[in-house]
Amino acid sequence: MAKEFVSADHVHPLLFTDGNSIFKVDPNPTVMILGLSFPLPKNEAVKPIYSSIIKMKDESVIIAETPRVIIRHFCTENFADLAPILANPEVMKYSLAGVLSSNQTRKFIQKMLCRYESEGYGYYAIIDRHNTQLIGYCGLLFCLIEGSRKVEIGYRLDPHYWQKGLATEAATAVRDYAFNQLSLNDLIALIQPKNIASIKVAEKIGMKFERNYTFSGMPVKIYRIFKP
Ligand SMILES: CC(C)(COP(=O)(O)OP(=O)(O)OC[C@H]1O[C@@H](n2cnc3c(N)ncnc32)[C@H](O)[C@@H]1OP(=O)(O)O)[C@@H](O)C(=O)NCCC(=O)NCCS
Repeated sequence: MAKEFVSADHVHPLLFTDGNSIFKVDPNPTVMILGLSFPLPKNEAVKPIYSSIIKMKDESVIIAETPRVIIRHFCTENFADLAPILANPEVMKYSLAGVLSSNQTRKFIQKMLCRYESEGYGYYAIIDRHNTQLIGYCGLLFCLIEGSRKVEIGYRLDPHYWQKGLATEAATAVRDYAFNQLSLNDLIALIQPKNIASIKVAEKIGMKFERNYTFSGMPVKIYRIFKP
């Protein structure tokens, strides 16, 4: 991946946050009809998002770099690398959706491209710096917990890369991005009780068990971390 930056830090022109939700002020009425934007509350706590967006020459947007991985927006070309990972029953064992077909993975990437625009965040590709291979994803999605919007951190890696500290490294960077760039107040993780690896990653990035909950009919543990 050529390291040629074309732009650097800037205030996002359309996205604002009150620390809990991200609001999009969208001048395009058709987007608003589709429900992809939210009215900006008249609240002093609402401030613009300071996006540290670094665009590579090939237009991919980098969220964070760590010693071993680059975390960046998905692009449609990632399909070939992502499809086998999301079709692997081992990787999807604790996913509500189960294994994804090729078509579902294509839709997953398209959905993320929309989420970057509509929400200001989504799941991001994790790229091995060493060989530029896509090795999984880590990122942020909103979910509704008892009617209130929460931002959840999620991660999923190719099993060839498990147990090397990579999920912890990526999730730490995404956590910091959520607090420092998106100015969110807190993050949650919804984890099935038997998913020990995921619980360990959550704990290693500073999340604490909050309570048991039933999400889409599935018992989960809610872990949470507040912005320091
Ligand atoms: C969860 C997942 C991303 C962890 O990835 P990883 O890169 O192996 O995690 P790390 O190497 O950063 O390990 C973090 C901790 O978990 C431990 N761990 C990892 N896999 C484990 C396993 N299968 N059983 C027990 N502990 C495990 C590690 O030893 C480490 O703890 P330590 O530092 O005390 O030794 C990976 O297992 C995965 O992709 N699972 C399938 C998808 C999934 O379940 N995602 C979460 C949905 S909520």
